[in-house]
Amino acid sequence: MPRSSGQGKRPARPARVRAVPSRQQSAGAWGAWWQKVSPGIEAALNDILPPESQAPPSVHRAMRYSVFSGGKRIRPALAALGFHLAGGRGDAGLRLGAALELIHTFSLIHDDLPCMDDDDFRRGRLSCHRKFGEAVAVLAGDGLQVLAFEALARLPAPPARRLRVLTEITQAVGTAGVIGGQVVDIESEGKRISPARLVWMHERKTGALLRCTLTSGGLLGGMSPALLRRMAAFGSAFGLLFQVVDDLLDELGSYRALGRRRGRDRVRGKATYPSILGLEKSRVRLGAAVEESLSLIPVDGPAGEIFVDLIGVVVGRLPGEWLEGNARP
Ligand code: IPE
Ligand code: IPE
Ligand code: MG
Ligand code: MG
Ligand code: MG
Repeated sequence: MPRSSGQGKRPARPARVRAVPSRQQSAGAWGAWWQKVSPGIEAALNDILPPESQAPPSVHRAMRYSVFSGGKRIRPALAALGFHLAGGRGDAGLRLGAALELIHTFSLIHDDLPCMDDDDFRRGRLSCHRKFGEAVAVLAGDGLQVLAFEALARLPAPPARRLRVLTEITQAVGTAGVIGGQVVDIESEGKRISPARLVWMHERKTGALLRCTLTSGGLLGGMSPALLRRMAAFGSAFGLLFQVVDDLLDELGSYRALGRRRGRDRVRGKATYPSILGLEKSRVRLGAAVEESLSLIPVDGPAGEIFVDLIGVVVGRLPGEWLEGNARP
């Protein structure tokens, strides 16, 4: 497989991104893992969320609408993987994953609000506030976040371990993590921020939660400090890669891959990889992010293949011709 090229200022040929296996989420080693844990994740989500009929029904309908709307469930499957690789047994890893998916969903509901990204669609359906109104959407997001922390407080694990998991997650979600990254995202609209600032923002708004899926799963399962450090390093690299792909999808992705029309980031004047670096440099950076993630895969053998495959699934959402450097959109 070719390494990404184009390190110089003007590459003679367009850069290519290493051809990691590009598959549907349901195939390959990641797909097999995902299929194994998926029913348990859905069951845990269903168990944790109040029924729609519970008073007041509007907010519970909105919470369930957004949680069960076709998300890829990458975060809960990663949390379950971290737990499994730590030697954890039982359904605690699935419940942890479900709680992290609730936090992810809260962040997406708020991200779509008119005061944030003002997106009418998510995953091919009306966004939460377009379906239920802004006030209920704000409260549904709040409700999901609080519910997640209740579920974490009730994890079937020794109290000291639960507390470490809780602390890890609050740090990833708070103003040093997701929320801080989102603040900078909003404050950077219409501005030309530096590439370093862009990385800083992406590492927080998206990377922090993805990294934390693996580390909290590991902590819950009693992982060794050495493996935990490797998990964190991979999680950071993968988290950045994930948002680079997300940025590029907004320019290049199909409606199917995006769940809404492309070009929203451009309309909002968002600071993204394509807007700050341009598409060609973004492909070079994407290639580097793929190499970095591949080099930091925390385990060998069949479990390592799950991570390789996940990278392929994520990058494979982008058009193949563009990754190969053969297409000029
Ligand atoms: C989208 O995340 C938001 C980002 C943090 C980039 P995903 O692409 O994982 O969203 P779903 O849950 O699968 O829809
Ligand atoms: C979302 O980033 C990050 C969080 C929700 C924390 P984006 O705004 O790029 O995500 P999409 O593109 O709307 O899914
Ligand atoms: Mg956003
Ligand atoms: Mg958005
Ligand atoms: Mg985006």
